[in-house]
Amino acid sequence: MSINAIIGGQWGDEGKGKIVDLLSKGVKIVARYQGGANAGHTVYYNNNKIVLHQIPTGVLRDKSLCILGKGMVIDPIGIVEEIDCLNENSISFKDRIVIDYYAHLVTPIHKMIDRETELKSGNKIGTTCKGIGPTYSDKFNRIGLRMVDILNNNYLKTKIEERINSALENNEINKNSIDELEKEMKYFYECCEMIKYFIKDSFPIIYNNINDNILIEGAQGTLLDIDHGTYPFVTSSSCSSGGIATGLGIPGNKVNDIIGIFKAYVTRVGGGPFPTELFDEDGDRLQSIGKEFGATTGRKRRCGWFDAVAGNYSVKINGLTGVALTKLDILDSFKKIKVCTHYEFKGELISNMSSVLNNLEDIVPVYKEFSGWETSLENIESYDDFPKEAKIYIEYLSEILEVPIR
Ligand code: IMP
Repeated sequence: MSINAIIGGQWGDEGKGKIVDLLSKGVKIVARYQGGANAGHTVYYNNNKIVLHQIPTGVLRDKSLCILGKGMVIDPIGIVEEIDCLNENSISFKDRIVIDYYAHLVTPIHKMIDRETELKSGNKIGTTCKGIGPTYSDKFNRIGLRMVDILNNNYLKTKIEERINSALENNEINKNSIDELEKEMKYFYECCEMIKYFIKDSFPIIYNNINDNILIEGAQGTLLDIDHGTYPFVTSSSCSSGGIATGLGIPGNKVNDIIGIFKAYVTRVGGGPFPTELFDEDGDRLQSIGKEFGATTGRKRRCGWFDAVAGNYSVKINGLTGVALTKLDILDSFKKIKVCTHYEFKGELISNMSSVLNNLEDIVPVYKEFSGWETSLENIESYDDFPKEAKIYIEYLSEILEVPIR
């Protein structure tokens, strides 16, 4: 019996959904602790591609209970869409989804503010426009609405009217958009009705099962963490393992394994520094062979070589006990593969990312080059059967990350 966590080790999109799907077999509870519909976890169910944004991937296991924790921000319209998708794929979820009372509520106002802010800033951060930042802002300003408020219609409507008025007064939204907003609000209230059934207190559920098997599903990645990431080019939640304690109320000393998911190279969507980003043919090949498009927005992902300076930082911030390395096969046809081992900044070699988090635009990555294996990894089932060059690459990553690749 154990509590294990899956955390994004890079800038998100590392393949967490797939690993959660693998590790959720026989698990009693799968829980998310932060973020919202900005996430996109792609999994295949009976050969059909399913993208889950808010409901944990564990919903595909017919015995797992899925908890959307209080550290999340929940969009009821998105939940209804995901439930439609589960129904279309005949995935039964009866009595298996719990949305915590105290998770914050993403309304169409928040999504509109997100879009307008992005437009005004010239898409500087490149958010997913899912209302994540504005909802967390309201939470920390102590004016947010929570899922429990959906259970009280009059209170919900009064508070939402107040929020629309303050958004207009403060020019957070455009007066010309009010008709569009009213239309969205009508559908939003219908969706709130439809999801009432799932809204519960997750505290007794978690504590009655604290000695059972629980899998915690992180979203986004450590380098997008509001405290430890490449601020301000981050999301608005605690994506690293620290967020588990606040977002689910599961204290750190209860978590056994913390598995970091890393791609065998690096990708990033949206704005912000990316030390190993490639603007050449290798970058284009990683993007096209890896089919690197955002699961939520469809945007092309920026691609680059594995950044072990960032990786090692991520291992330490999260207390990772192991790594799952994904998409190694995307490198199958590369003659040469590089790993960034250090950053050069003002003539000095840097191995601690934290010291240059604010200067990443000015660092020069220092690389170690590896020979590619130039053969397909498809159908290999045992580590022993990996080509020599692939083993050298994996073992080097494990050594420089200082954690086993499991
Ligand atoms: P937000 O979370 O929508 O506010 O977006 C803030 C930043 O985080 C943007 O650069 C997004 O592209 C990025 N981001 C948010 N969610 C994800 C994700 O699930 N994968 C990768 N990047 C993400």
